[in-house]
Amino acid sequence: MKMGNSSFVAIALLMSVVVLCNGGKTSSYVRKLIQNPVDMPLDSDAFAIPPGYNAPQQVHITQGDHVGQAMIISWVTVDEPGSNEVIYWSNSSLQNFTAEGEVFTYTYYNYTSGFIHHTNITNLEFNTTYFYVVGIGNTTRQFWFTTPPEVGIDVPYTFGIIGDLGQTFDSNTTLTHYQNSNGSTLLYVGDLSYADDYPYHDNVRWDTWGRFTERSAAYQPWIWTAGNHEIDFDLQIGETQSFKPFSNRYHTPYESSQRTSTLQYKWLTTELPKIDRTETSWLIVLMHAPWYNSYYSHYMEGEPMRVVFESLFIKYKVDVVFAGHVHAYERSERVSNDKYNITNGICTPVKDISAPVYITNGDGGNQEGLSINMTQPQPSYSAYREASFGHGTLEIKNRTHAFYSWNRNQDGYAVEADKLWLFNRYWNPLDDSTTNIP
Ligand SMILES: *[C@@H]1O[C@H](CO)[C@@H](O)[C@H](O)[C@H]1NC(C)=O
Ligand SMILES: *[C@@H]1O[C@H](CO)[C@@H](O)[C@H](O)[C@H]1NC(C)=O
Ligand SMILES: *[C@@H]1O[C@H](CO)[C@@H](O)[C@H](O)[C@H]1NC(C)=O
Ligand SMILES: *[C@@H]1O[C@H](CO)[C@@H](O)[C@H](O)[C@H]1NC(C)=O
Ligand SMILES: *[C@@H]1O[C@H](CO)[C@@H](O)[C@H](O)[C@H]1NC(C)=O
Ligand SMILES: *[C@@H]1O[C@H](CO)[C@@H](O)[C@H](O)[C@H]1NC(C)=O
Ligand SMILES: *[C@@H]1O[C@H](CO)[C@@H](O)[C@H](O)[C@H]1NC(C)=O
Ligand SMILES: *[C@@H]1O[C@H](CO)[C@@H](O)[C@H](O)[C@H]1NC(C)=O
Ligand SMILES: *[C@@H]1O[C@H](CO)[C@@H](O)[C@H](O)[C@H]1NC(C)=O
Ligand SMILES: *[C@@H]1O[C@H](CO)[C@@H](O)[C@H](O)[C@H]1NC(C)=O
Ligand SMILES: *[C@@H]1O[C@H](CO)[C@@H](O)[C@H](O)[C@H]1NC(C)=O
Ligand SMILES: [Fe+2]
Repeated sequence: MKMGNSSFVAIALLMSVVVLCNGGKTSSYVRKLIQNPVDMPLDSDAFAIPPGYNAPQQVHITQGDHVGQAMIISWVTVDEPGSNEVIYWSNSSLQNFTAEGEVFTYTYYNYTSGFIHHTNITNLEFNTTYFYVVGIGNTTRQFWFTTPPEVGIDVPYTFGIIGDLGQTFDSNTTLTHYQNSNGSTLLYVGDLSYADDYPYHDNVRWDTWGRFTERSAAYQPWIWTAGNHEIDFDLQIGETQSFKPFSNRYHTPYESSQRTSTLQYKWLTTELPKIDRTETSWLIVLMHAPWYNSYYSHYMEGEPMRVVFESLFIKYKVDVVFAGHVHAYERSERVSNDKYNITNGICTPVKDISAPVYITNGDGGNQEGLSINMTQPQPSYSAYREASFGHGTLEIKNRTHAFYSWNRNQDGYAVEADKLWLFNRYWNPLDDSTTNIP
């Protein structure tokens, strides 16, 4: 989907070859203690239920259209369906506006969801702060957000990147650090609540996750990518509809890309040529399983997808690809590996300044713990890797320059453990590598 900010496009995709060379950096940072993170208890303050009859909870927003003039407002009520209405206004508007949405419920094994509301509010002004109220008729709650600036080739904008967050004490630290950054929209690279790690995929943990993330997601758009923990397909308990909890709870503006119900490949090949780089200078792809990963965890899992899509990313000059899935941090150099043709033996990633930088931000902090084991020696495609929790930020400055930084949780948000200037592949296709890759 195209975001209305900063001349930027993010496309969310669902979802080896080791070179013996030590060009990259394996962080020497040593954590004091390596142990699996612990989920916050159900009665934790992070999951507090707002008081009042039928009070809206789990409030979250996501961009509702291509350019940023619509926002999907979502919330859950538990006592009765209540109203689907959102009342909203900006500081400069003399009147209030209302929009009406839809309400959904679903069952999962022996769990019945609350009333899940989604209302698309439209005709918003760019770069404007709006206040909004949900829970009309009973207990109301008020929030606010700021729309992105109008699409323009040199408009600055800052994104956060989080993946595989879960709901542990470490997840809480990641979110707090992200909130202290200057991110205006969060790019979420998949694996949300980890409810499926509980017996019968206890969907109560989807509700706690919704309440936990509200403190950010009600105030700025979170752009969703689905991961494997959203599948929730389980024959043993008769749950045969994939992505049931996720798709009921997290609506996305896929209609605005005129998506047809065809395969992902067909969708992507029609979406990529539509991007006008003289209008939207940065092309960012989000997916769940990384293609360039040098941890043992999920090693080469992204290969089937890479061989199909990689040449498209190069052709359309994707600037950066964010993924999650591996519970650690890693950044690649600009590399590609698309020359193999079954007979030529060319199957090693090579430096390619036409290719994207690949970044794994699967380091949100979920209860499954860090991926610690790395392949040795560090392959040349890997510029920086570290087994710590944290989050990333991408500050787009103009059509040619963006600053990326990764912040490990242990340092507090002010320390950038890994950072670099990214040069735009369309407007500034110079070599921006940070290691001496052959
Ligand atoms: C909007 O109005 C509120 C309350 O009057 C004020 O606190 C806030 O700073 C204003 N925001 C903008 C963006 O003007
Ligand atoms: C708009 O709605 C808010 C919240 O319900 C209310 O406080 C405010 O007075 C309303 N403004 C107008 C102009 O009706
Ligand atoms: C669902 O079933 C499991 C296993 O029988 C049980 O432990 C749990 O309490 C049930 N939950 C509800 C909401 O009935
Ligand atoms: C909740 O709101 C509905 C619709 O306005 C109203 O009929 C009902 O009496 C309210 N319930 C309570 C407990 O306030
Ligand atoms: C957005 O609005 C603020 C004032 O509220 C202004 O300072 C800023 O330059 C605007 N940004 C863009 C990109 O128009
Ligand atoms: C989660 O983080 C928030 C914000 O820092 C803090 O107020 C809250 O106490 C934390 N909760 C837990 C269970 O760590
Ligand atoms: C956020 O932006 C302000 C103003 O540009 C800057 O002073 C501050 O250091 C930034 N914070 C972070 C965490 O980057
Ligand atoms: C929200 O409304 C806008 C403007 O009418 C429309 O373009 C967009 O497709 C809508 N989004 C959803 C998810 O319905
Ligand atoms: C495979 O690639 C090699 C060179 O990389 C080329 O010489 C050969 O013709 C290719 N084979 C096929 C079947 O395309
Ligand atoms: C890491 O690798 C070592 C040696 O191969 C193995 O014993 C250990 O179980 C691995 N640890 C994890 C967490 O995979
Ligand atoms: C783009 O941003 C970079 C980094 O802030 C800056 O060095 C460069 O001069 C800017 N380019 C233009 C044309 O302003
Ligand atoms: Fe995953």
